[in-house]
Amino acid sequence: MHQTSREMTEVLVQNQKLYQPSRAILKTARVKDYQGMLKKARRNPVKFWAEAANDIHWFKKWDKVFDDSHKPFYQWFAGAKTNLAYNALDRHIGTPVANKTAIFWEDESGRSRRYSYLELYHEVNQLVNGLKKLGVKKGDRVAVYLPNIPETAIALLACAKLGAIHSVVYAGYSAKALEERIKDAKAKILVTADGSFRRGKVVDLKSIADRAVKNCPRVKKVVVVKNNGQKIKFNRRRDIWYHELIKNQPVEAKCAVMSAEDPAFVLYTSGTTSKPKGVIHVHGGYAVQVLRTIKWVFDLRGNEVFWCTADPGWITGHSYIIYGPLMAGITTLMYEGVPDVPRPDRIWRLVEKYKVNVLYTAPTLIRLMMKYGNAWPQKHQMKSLRILGSVGEPINPAAWKWFHKYVGKNRCPIMDTWWQTETGAQMITPLPCAPLKAGSTGKPFPGIVADVVDKKGKPVPYGKGGYLVIKNQWPSMIRTIFNNPERYVKTYWQKIKAVYFTGDVAFKDKDGYYWIQGRTDDVLKIAGHRLGTAEIESAFAHHPAVVEAAVIGLPDPVKGESIKAFVVLKQGIKPSDKLQEELRHTVRQTIGPVAVIGAIAFTDKLPKTRSGKIMRRVLKAKELGLPLGDTSALI
Ligand code: WTA
Repeated sequence: MHQTSREMTEVLVQNQKLYQPSRAILKTARVKDYQGMLKKARRNPVKFWAEAANDIHWFKKWDKVFDDSHKPFYQWFAGAKTNLAYNALDRHIGTPVANKTAIFWEDESGRSRRYSYLELYHEVNQLVNGLKKLGVKKGDRVAVYLPNIPETAIALLACAKLGAIHSVVYAGYSAKALEERIKDAKAKILVTADGSFRRGKVVDLKSIADRAVKNCPRVKKVVVVKNNGQKIKFNRRRDIWYHELIKNQPVEAKCAVMSAEDPAFVLYTSGTTSKPKGVIHVHGGYAVQVLRTIKWVFDLRGNEVFWCTADPGWITGHSYIIYGPLMAGITTLMYEGVPDVPRPDRIWRLVEKYKVNVLYTAPTLIRLMMKYGNAWPQKHQMKSLRILGSVGEPINPAAWKWFHKYVGKNRCPIMDTWWQTETGAQMITPLPCAPLKAGSTGKPFPGIVADVVDKKGKPVPYGKGGYLVIKNQWPSMIRTIFNNPERYVKTYWQKIKAVYFTGDVAFKDKDGYYWIQGRTDDVLKIAGHRLGTAEIESAFAHHPAVVEAAVIGLPDPVKGESIKAFVVLKQGIKPSDKLQEELRHTVRQTIGPVAVIGAIAFTDKLPKTRSGKIMRRVLKAKELGLPLGDTSALI
């Protein structure tokens, strides 16, 4: 969401109020001297990360902490041996953590389950053995299309443990989108479920998976988790029930010794073209930064319960529902459902029921709860809450203040964490000991060097908008784009010389606090979900009546952004309500229910550059009533 310069100035003036950390928070905080820590890390970021790396288990230590001899294909902890799943599970076995609750799970209808670390470890091992029996080997890709259930964590951990590369596809994607991702990753196994419930309605995952796999001859086996118990079509030759696969498998399994730089997973995300990018993350550096950030940003310890409300299908779920909490040895809550069913206080009831200590959520959810009114959170004491978190899109100061007052009861600091699928872990975020400003992500995490610059890479003055860039490298960074290293180089390292290009616009205030304004105009954030304009435009073009389409994001009070599409129809075709419905259907079929189209406007032609590129900025400026010359109103 772009803000105008005037709004930015207002934000700056209004937000000079600092929210200081309470004594209680400071008492337990792992980092107490904020400025001192930032200074120390700044002097030598590589040393900072080398120290952080001591928190994870290495089968063999590294030869070199950081290697930039093949830039931009950077390496961390080269020569070292480790395993991401070993760090999340195996290392806790034989310690008091083994008997702690690893996962609490509940679904919309109230069914619940609990796994201790030891139980989780045993089931992961059974699945490792089961997958091996199906022929899965080190380096193979396994696609995962599952709802937010413990088996998702188990599938990911099992893959990582045996050295296979998991590729999770969010369950809100369509058969076509799933097919495309399975094909790009050349996956040979798909793990899915019979179905799930959303607002009481059945989500028919298995039949979507069937349609996707029909065109993927490489997929030899489909493993099916019995989740909601609905009737499904079962292909005896290809499908196998998850519970039958793991039944009778030994509860111990060998852990693959992986190089720090071996890929642990690929996660597809939207970019500037219609083809999603397969972001690669590795075993070593990813583990180091995810663990260091969850420990310092959320300060979790002991028997604490952490609830990250994201979906495991996104990077937030990978890092902060599954790997982070488990590496930290605390309890993670997985909730398979929406936060306002059966009533708008479901989310607060869950916080109370599971005595959640840290709640990590998204601005879109906070704004939805705000809309329901103050009375709902006020019904609940939520005494267990200590720290709150926000991620995924800019949080406007009003939503921040509401969250702070009505959920945090003015005592829980809010960690507004900026990061991306590509960064793997949090990058710009306060720590609990830091003074906060409502609506700002604070300063870069220790060991991260960020800046706001112009097109040439020159830092812009305080209070002025520009491109958000990262000036150093960090352990959990993307290593490459699967099957497309050129795209990796071009997208992130060549837009602005010598720095990592985030694609976001931001400004810094005089205290060095960052205020993220949103994406440059090719990636959208709809209710925190990342979607590409090009990907939606090409979905429109699947309809036979469409010549071409352009898509922009418009400010939305709850979702942050909503999609508006401008569609050019073939000659002789008349716009109608029915056609609008058909177009929405086409997009849903092509991308999935995650791509909700707000408004559709029919037009004769789209504004284009001389080289034929659609000028979405012009469309957006017109919609927002901004001067065309200053279209982004920011840069
Ligand atoms: C946006 C999600 C403002 C940003 C972890 C980024 C944010 C994109 C914040 C990445 C935040 C994420 N404040 N904007 N705290 N966190 N973003 O890959 O535009 O789904 O580039 O990763 O989300 O989205 P992704």
